Amino acid sequence: MKDPLRIAVLAVSASIAATLAGCNYVAVQTAPAKVAASSRSELAQRADKLFWNTLHSGDYDAIPQAMEAMTAAYLETPNDALTAAHVGWLHIWSLAENARLAKPTPTVTDHAVMARKYFQEAVALDPSDARFLGFLASAMLAEGSIHKDEKTTRQGYYTLLSSVDAWPEFNLFTAGYVMSGQAADSQRFKDGLEWQWRNLDECVGEKIDRRNPDYQRYMRLATTQGKKRVCWNSWIAPHNFEGFFLNLGDMLVKSGDWQLAQKIYANAKLTPEYASWKFAPLLEARIQNAQANVAVFAQPGSAKAGGAAMMGKSTFACVACHQQ
Ligand code: HEC
Repeated sequence: MKDPLRIAVLAVSASIAATLAGCNYVAVQTAPAKVAASSRSELAQRADKLFWNTLHSGDYDAIPQAMEAMTAAYLETPNDALTAAHVGWLHIWSLAENARLAKPTPTVTDHAVMARKYFQEAVALDPSDARFLGFLASAMLAEGSIHKDEKTTRQGYYTLLSSVDAWPEFNLFTAGYVMSGQAADSQRFKDGLEWQWRNLDECVGEKIDRRNPDYQRYMRLATTQGKKRVCWNSWIAPHNFEGFFLNLGDMLVKSGDWQLAQKIYANAKLTPEYASWKFAPLLEARIQNAQANVAVFAQPGSAKAGGAAMMGKSTFACVACHQQ
């Protein structure tokens, strides 16, 4: 039997619930955004010193100490974008080079979640630095993949594309590097390889010859200024140039094009800093073993089986570019 009073009560409570839900939405949407700090604290500057010493010396085992110092600086000034990003970078380094651990434990994957969180803070505080956006995207992709969460993966993918639009010279590399671990015959891997080539086009301002990619003629473009500085070596990334060609060579080997890979690897030698690059002998071995590595790189988990690992999955995924 219908009870008009009961129906009326239900209707009223439903509308109150809707209003409350609306309130909830409005309250969340109108919450004040964090206001970015305009200067670095003394604690942040001290933590930065330790941060750079650790990264530039490639001292993976010292990450926990740097993490404590950087996180303390963040807690003191949680609206400092660079501090937040540096915490994010320590987490993503921990994750990226976890092949260095004698026995990686399951919780090493938590670094993806932490990296995503801190890069999200950094992007919110300073949307003008698209390096943060690129790293946010790669952290989201890692998180999505670890947790088998397709929604996060898709968000990560579109964030990656936005980061490329915002700073192609930097984020085409980020994007391609992230895809270097995908199956050699997958569309994602092919896109990644295409992005690496386009990165070179962006850096030199013309289409480079992909059959004969001799970079010698572009060396005069080297700069430490402006957006194109990220195409070359710098204090931040003392061997970026060599690391870029090492990864592109690895991706070409994986695609089967080992002869072209040999030419690409050789470009790393064009920079004066090559002489002091810790990974020069490794690059020489890559050129020597290019043909044999086609099968090795195409095999998932070859590092664990005692084979060589592609740069993106290696113990030098970050320090190939950043170690002094
Ligand atoms: C191919 C070389 C290369 C690889 C690999 C690479 N980076 Fe970088 N990284 C760069 C370049 C280039 C820049 C930008 C330098 C600039 O802004 O002038 C950069 C910027 C940075 C910064 C800058 C922070 C600041 O304060 O400006 C940090 C930290 C960093 N990378 C950490 C990492 C970590 C961690 C990894 C591994 C997950 C990594 N990088 C992988 C080349 C590389």
